Amino acid sequence: MKGVILSGGHGTRLRPLTHTGPKQLIPIANKPVICYAIEDLRDAGITEIGIILGTNMPNKIKEALGDGSEFGVNLTYIMQGEPKGLAHAAKTAKDFVDGDSFVMYLGDNILKSGIEDFVSGFDESDYSSRLLLQEVEDPRQFGVAELNEDGKIINLVEKPEHPKSNLALVGIYLFKNNIFDAIDKIKPSWRNELEITDAIQKLIDEGFNVDSFVVDGWWKDTGKPEDVLDANKLILETIKTDIQGEIEDDVKIKGRVIIGKNTIVKSGSVIKGPAIIGENCEIKGYVGPYTSIGDNTKIIESEIDSSIIIGNSIIRSDKRITESLLGQNSQIISDKKTYPKGRSFVIGENSIIKL
Ligand code: DAU
Repeated sequence: MKGVILSGGHGTRLRPLTHTGPKQLIPIANKPVICYAIEDLRDAGITEIGIILGTNMPNKIKEALGDGSEFGVNLTYIMQGEPKGLAHAAKTAKDFVDGDSFVMYLGDNILKSGIEDFVSGFDESDYSSRLLLQEVEDPRQFGVAELNEDGKIINLVEKPEHPKSNLALVGIYLFKNNIFDAIDKIKPSWRNELEITDAIQKLIDEGFNVDSFVVDGWWKDTGKPEDVLDANKLILETIKTDIQGEIEDDVKIKGRVIIGKNTIVKSGSVIKGPAIIGENCEIKGYVGPYTSIGDNTKIIESEIDSSIIIGNSIIRSDKRITESLLGQNSQIISDKKTYPKGRSFVIGENSIIKL
């Protein structure tokens, strides 16, 4: 069995962070979100993985993941180009898949339980496909599945206005080779995309069996800033303490905390986990729960919690930073000189500032 991870798309809902790279490289607990997909496939025994690249700086994906040996897998890069839909992306992997069955994993999805049971329980003799599902409160923003009493899927609709169930399609699918015939038979949807849900519905209409697997534990599609922060919290809940940096005297560390090499936590600071601080950072102040701080960042006499700083940043703020997502090379500086007159900003497109 092979794996295919999608890393294309425009990532419009994550601008400005996606002006400088694909959304699948946004770090969750200091690790690009796409790495969790690679690890899930590897842990399910799938080591031949194709990465589908889009048009938004695909080289950054290649630079970050290399040949996959760091993860114990073998990566092949496949160019999709413009995001013409999930079924279009799947079709670009046809040669790579080369007759095998495969797991297709959306590269911005993250899942607590992994996919071992989902993959090992696939009955290839009876079924053409197996879909990972989860019950959600509002299924209208997802693909929605209707099942019969045996768990067989009888109907699928992409983002329905009036969902027939609360079972959303998690972006992880198992296919056999006949999915490519089904893709060849579908037309673009109202949003002008070749929808994978339409291709799977085609399989069902032609009498092929499609199985379901309802997953427990959390699942996040990290398409929006609030989902990225939520995913960061959920992953930080699972970390174990590992302190490699230097901790000066009179520092309080509570809870589970990871601190990288060459990082200094200065005297008087408080670090309250779960939190992760990368390498080559300098921390003086308060780092609170659910915070991920990327490499080469300085926190100067400041407080931060429930946030992600991607890296190479400086924070010297007189107010606590909370629930924030800061791109590379960001600075938040409380400047005593300009302060009485007003606040000074250099802000990119689609930035959000809450004062
Ligand atoms: O997250 C689960 C949902 O993902 C499912 O419930 C839906 O059925 C499924 O269609 C999909 O919906 P989204 O609207 O969230 O898909 P999105 O356009 O965000 O694309 C998902 C991932 O696939 C994302 O990492 C970008 C990548 N992608 C997307 C398209 C359209 C590609 O690589 N190529 C593409 O052409």
